[in-house]
Amino acid sequence: MGTSVSYLEMLLVLLFMESLMLGYTRADAGASCIKSEKDALLNFKKGLIDPSNRLMSWVGEDCCSWKGVFCSNRTGHVIKLDLRNTVLEADTDFSLGGEINRSLLDLTNLYYLDLSMNEFWDTKIPDFLGSLKMLKYLNLSSAAFVGNIPHHLGNLSTLEYLDLSHNGLLVDSLHFVTTLSSLKHLDLSWLDLAKAGNWLQSINMLPSLLELHLSSCELDFIPQFLKVNFTSLAVLDFNQNYFGSTFPRWIFNISNNIRHLALSDNGFQGSLPREMGNCNLLEFLDLSCNALEGKIPETLSNLCNLHDFNLELNKFSGNIYGPFDNASGCIARSLKNLNLQYNSFRSTLPDNWEKFKYLEYLDLSFNSFWGPFPASIGRLSRQLPRLAKLRTSSNDLPGSGSRSIHLSSNKFEGPLTYIPDVAALDISNNFLSGHIPRITGNMMSQMKTFILSNNHLNGSIPASDFIAINKALLRVRRAAG
Ligand SMILES: *[C@@H]1O[C@H](CO)[C@@H](O)[C@H](O)[C@H]1NC(C)=O
Ligand SMILES: *[C@@H]1O[C@H](CO)[C@@H](O)[C@H](O)[C@H]1NC(C)=O
Ligand SMILES: *[C@@H]1O[C@H](CO)[C@@H](O)[C@H](O)[C@H]1NC(C)=O
Ligand SMILES: *[C@@H]1O[C@H](CO)[C@@H](O)[C@H](O)[C@H]1NC(C)=O
Ligand SMILES: *[C@@H]1O[C@H](CO)[C@@H](O)[C@H](O)[C@H]1NC(C)=O
Ligand SMILES: *[C@@H]1O[C@H](CO)[C@@H](O)[C@H](O)[C@H]1NC(C)=O
Ligand SMILES: *[C@@H]1O[C@H](CO)[C@@H](O)[C@H](O)[C@H]1NC(C)=O
Ligand SMILES: *[C@@H]1O[C@H](CO)[C@@H](O)[C@H](O)[C@H]1NC(C)=O
Repeated sequence: MGTSVSYLEMLLVLLFMESLMLGYTRADAGASCIKSEKDALLNFKKGLIDPSNRLMSWVGEDCCSWKGVFCSNRTGHVIKLDLRNTVLEADTDFSLGGEINRSLLDLTNLYYLDLSMNEFWDTKIPDFLGSLKMLKYLNLSSAAFVGNIPHHLGNLSTLEYLDLSHNGLLVDSLHFVTTLSSLKHLDLSWLDLAKAGNWLQSINMLPSLLELHLSSCELDFIPQFLKVNFTSLAVLDFNQNYFGSTFPRWIFNISNNIRHLALSDNGFQGSLPREMGNCNLLEFLDLSCNALEGKIPETLSNLCNLHDFNLELNKFSGNIYGPFDNASGCIARSLKNLNLQYNSFRSTLPDNWEKFKYLEYLDLSFNSFWGPFPASIGRLSRQLPRLAKLRTSSNDLPGSGSRSIHLSSNKFEGPLTYIPDVAALDISNNFLSGHIPRITGNMMSQMKTFILSNNHLNGSIPASDFIAINKALLRVRRAAG
């Protein structure tokens, strides 16, 4: 998630810088509107259905001051039309609908068109959008468009951003993208691409592509090998398709640039190749909900930038020392969220968790990890008071966030000698025994959830400790097994 936000921010910054460089800005006082463009906008408005009167300001002479209309302060031309519906949760429907009038073609300098999040029920994407020759940014996401994607969009040779995601469009071929030679960002998520054979070959004609989103596209085939053209790709999102194959090898041909790899729920089988560790810049790796098996390759210990790593619901087995306990590795320096729940790991746990200074979320539950409850999880927590002293402002240092540790449904045994100071701790369904340790006030300042049920623990929690835990939701059930 963090990564997608940062790419969006990057995009916004880029667009902003571009505006400055080209002298684009929302015209104020000086810049006046070109008459033919004002007429074009009024004709466009006439075709629209605007129940909440969002285009109320579209009156008078100066179209450059109308809401959503942006002009070049240099030429006075309308260069940007941003009619994205940003008000989503309100009683009133702020969507625009109706028809998109050809008059838009009179906006000869339009480089940015955003009609996303509106409701053009049963409207087709008009062919003539392919004639907006200057277009760099076209966003028709979530706007209830139907019908075929017009192949005319392939004429937009300067287009850099194309987002047609979340519409009811039929796609029989992605051939139209092959001529979008400037394209950097393509999002066709939630379109049904089941009939678009050779989809990847079409996309492979785009060497400048940086970001590709094809989640939930009903894709059921991915080639294992490909002579990859889009070698600068940084973001790849194939979540929720059903490939059912082994892990595609060609992904490692983009290992130099890939930062965000979202391959959740793709039916991938077999082992995770060692080459995964070559993706040096990887920050986000989601392989959850697949059928991957074997050990996690120890080469992943080399991923020095990885902060989100999710392998939830796979068939990984063996131990996790290779990736997470390699003294010469650097994964511990960056990892923030680690989720290995619902796999088949069966081993003791590495006991070096104090090295994972940024770790906020650790979920190892529903495996068969065994042995003593790792003492280093306590050392991880004991950094808190030290860091708290260094803290200059809240929430900006590791340790000041709210950590969450889930180790339930494993086979940890022996005494629980301490309780780490984290926001959530779940160690239920294990074989821990002995007395519940004393819970001291300072250490428990953050705790909101603490689940100990189904262990062999005995003893009680003194009333004074309940008070010390202030917000903690304490669920302690002394049950055997
Ligand atoms: C576009 O607007 C013009 C002028 O209002 C109108 O004559 C024409 O029918 C409209 N076309 C469409 C496709 O709505
Ligand atoms: C356009 O606006 C920008 C930003 O306000 C300004 O720096 C630039 O000088 C303006 N250009 C012209 C031609 O007025
Ligand atoms: C397109 O619009 C949607 C919804 O408004 C937004 O979430 C998405 O990031 C936009 N796509 C691009 C490429 O900017
Ligand atoms: C735009 O694309 C369509 C369909 O691909 C094609 O028929 C048409 O000639 C193209 N127009 C221009 C001006 O290139
Ligand atoms: C790579 O892209 C170039 C330019 O679009 C294209 O000519 C070439 O055929 C592509 N190569 C492959 C293997 O698709
Ligand atoms: C792609 O990667 C494979 C193995 O990872 C390698 O053999 C091949 O030469 C690479 N191809 C290109 C074009 O980089
Ligand atoms: C640690 O990582 C290095 C570099 O990948 C590797 O050569 C070494 O074998 C690993 N050591 C262990 C114990 O896995
Ligand atoms: C608590 O459990 C430990 C070990 O399981 C046992 O030795 C001890 O007698 C128990 N104490 C009580 C009060 O049940």
